[in-house]
Amino acid sequence: MESLSLSFHNHTLIISVNRPDKLNALNQTVIEALSSTMDDVYHNADIKSVIITGSGPKAFVAGADISEFTLLDAAGGKAMARNGQSRVFNKIEQSPKPVIAAVNGFALGGGCELAMACHFRLASDNARFGQPEVNLGLIPGYGGTQRLTQLIGKGRAMELLMTGSMIDAATALQYGLVNYVVPPEELLPKALSITEQLNNKAPLSLAGCIKAVNAVFDETRDGYETEIDIFGELFDTADAKEGAAAFLEKRQPRFKGL
Ligand code: COA
Repeated sequence: MESLSLSFHNHTLIISVNRPDKLNALNQTVIEALSSTMDDVYHNADIKSVIITGSGPKAFVAGADISEFTLLDAAGGKAMARNGQSRVFNKIEQSPKPVIAAVNGFALGGGCELAMACHFRLASDNARFGQPEVNLGLIPGYGGTQRLTQLIGKGRAMELLMTGSMIDAATALQYGLVNYVVPPEELLPKALSITEQLNNKAPLSLAGCIKAVNAVFDETRDGYETEIDIFGELFDTADAKEGAAAFLEKRQPRFKGL
């Protein structure tokens, strides 16, 4: 069985982590597959947006594959975290095309981190979120301490990280960890209705929104300067001219990503 199942719907790539018998746990094969799939997302002009979900009714992703932990020492653990962060989680976060998580069940440990690396999240009402690494004598290694704090604030992040307890979808909604909670059968249709909207926007505008928002959390960049640069550069694009012309001519714009 392929570790990822891929399907394409009107310019949206749906990536489903596909190890349902192991609750879609992220082993190194899945990490490598996600890395190369994200490379394709960056370079394939037919892909305008991405939805990440999990196969089966029970789990989005129940964490990193714990069976791969037994042989790790300090150097191996650091290498695993660094490799995963740079090859998958940062690549998703910095993707110039929107990446949405459709969380269809357990999103624990690396699964919660995977969802948080996405630009925003939807959940089914049976979803559960948590960072249970403390129960294994560990902490998150795929960016969880940072992104959870960014998304839900320091106090709530500290509590979830230190207790290792799970929150349900309604609590995740209340915390701002997810944007919508829907019944399981409505999860993918809802995600696809959002990507359909996004697929009609100017691709360079979407890339600009992602880059500018990410700059808020990047200490090496001044977010306001980043915004000024991108705002200015977009005026030189054909799509900005098309957007203004379409508005003035009272018609829908036809964006080309140029
Ligand atoms: N790594 C490796 N295998 C995992 C896994 C993980 N993170 N999460 C689940 N699995 C495997 C189980 O070992 C089991 O495999 P088996 O059938 O070969 O024994 C299978 O997935 C089903 O899981 P199971 O525990 O039987 O399901 P459950 O409904 O009883 O419990 C969870 C669901 C999510 C509560 C439980 O699987 C769990 O706690 N998983 C680990 C979560 C975790 O700590 N993640 C962070 C890792 S850093």
